Amino acid sequence: MSATEPVVFHNALAELCGISSPIFLAGMAAISGPKLVSAVSNAGGMGIVGGLRAAPRLLRRWISETRDQTDKPFGVNLVPQFGGPDVFEAQFHVILKERPPLLSLFYAEAYPEMISRAKDAGLKVMVQVGTVGLAKEAVARGADIIVAQGSEAGGHMNRGTIALSALVPAILEVAGHRPVIAAGGITNRDDVRIALAMGATGVLVGTAFVATHESNAHDLYKQKIVDATADDTERRVGYSFGWTYGTPHRVIPNKDRWNVLKHIGGGARAIDAPRLARKLSLYAGQGVGKVAGVMSAADRFAELAAGLPHVTASSAQQVDFQMARARAMEMLTGLRQTAPDIASS
Ligand SMILES: Cc1cc2nc3c(=O)[nH]c(=O)nc-3n(C[C@H](O)[C@H](O)[C@H](O)COP(=O)(O)O)c2cc1C
Repeated sequence: MSATEPVVFHNALAELCGISSPIFLAGMAAISGPKLVSAVSNAGGMGIVGGLRAAPRLLRRWISETRDQTDKPFGVNLVPQFGGPDVFEAQFHVILKERPPLLSLFYAEAYPEMISRAKDAGLKVMVQVGTVGLAKEAVARGADIIVAQGSEAGGHMNRGTIALSALVPAILEVAGHRPVIAAGGITNRDDVRIALAMGATGVLVGTAFVATHESNAHDLYKQKIVDATADDTERRVGYSFGWTYGTPHRVIPNKDRWNVLKHIGGGARAIDAPRLARKLSLYAGQGVGKVAGVMSAADRFAELAAGLPHVTASSAQQVDFQMARARAMEMLTGLRQTAPDIASS
């Protein structure tokens, strides 16, 4: 499929977010900037700005630069655990002022009121979690979309001990009518097919988009992803730039024997010195072995979109089995609560 051929898979998630295909770019700190975000949104998916390391002024600039490059919906990712309450409140003010269509939250459990504050301002709120308990909490607090983050995922994980194949069905059980997005190790059309077959309504992709021309990653980092095999990532709980010590994360470890910086998990940016990029252990998911080259974000998107059921806009309403399944599960949950015997018979 060519990058220009439009793919439309207009399911409940796509409808909720106003996008053509339910493929989401992970909001990756420093890596997902305006160029990459707008490229994914222009391709028909949901680009998400990585807001984590961005001071309020930079965040505002990135939102404005994204708007200059696309008129399609996009989101912003924030991680309140990183930086603490004051930094987060300042970033959140930018969000309330700029009102991107989607707020993506990660490690936000200690800030429950953020979901309702963002929703009151008209934003859709997506929360990424790696356990059923955290998913239940996000649902109770009003999240519109849950991202099931499997232990395959690159970067930080919340909590990253459950594989996607076990996590997606378990989170579907507690998500009610809310769309559940699969994240972790998804790099190509086959992965997308598998994720949808498990019941996910869409996918969120990080590592495979790091290895695109538009990402802010250092060239050495992109090449390391291309060169890596499935054996080459490691789940760690040591130090990673700015995060609370012990927060799990997945990296391609730097194996240099005498290099002290190899203990630091990071995401080297194009603006970092090559010396630093060469010495860090770099964030990446278990799908690295399937990333064969650096390409444009539109080509990466087209590859992923080839795994979606290929439908035209006019036949879209016939394929929304994901929405029907979610509704059926919600009815069943209601029945279980009111008439346990009937529902289980
Ligand atoms: C380089 C990199 C940076 C990341 N930064 C963030 C971040 O700032 N906020 C966040 O919510 N998730 C972040 N993640 C995790 C992603 O949201 C997502 O769970 C992960 O990329 C999915 O797995 P995959 O990398 O195998 O596609 C990051 C992932 C990577 C690879």
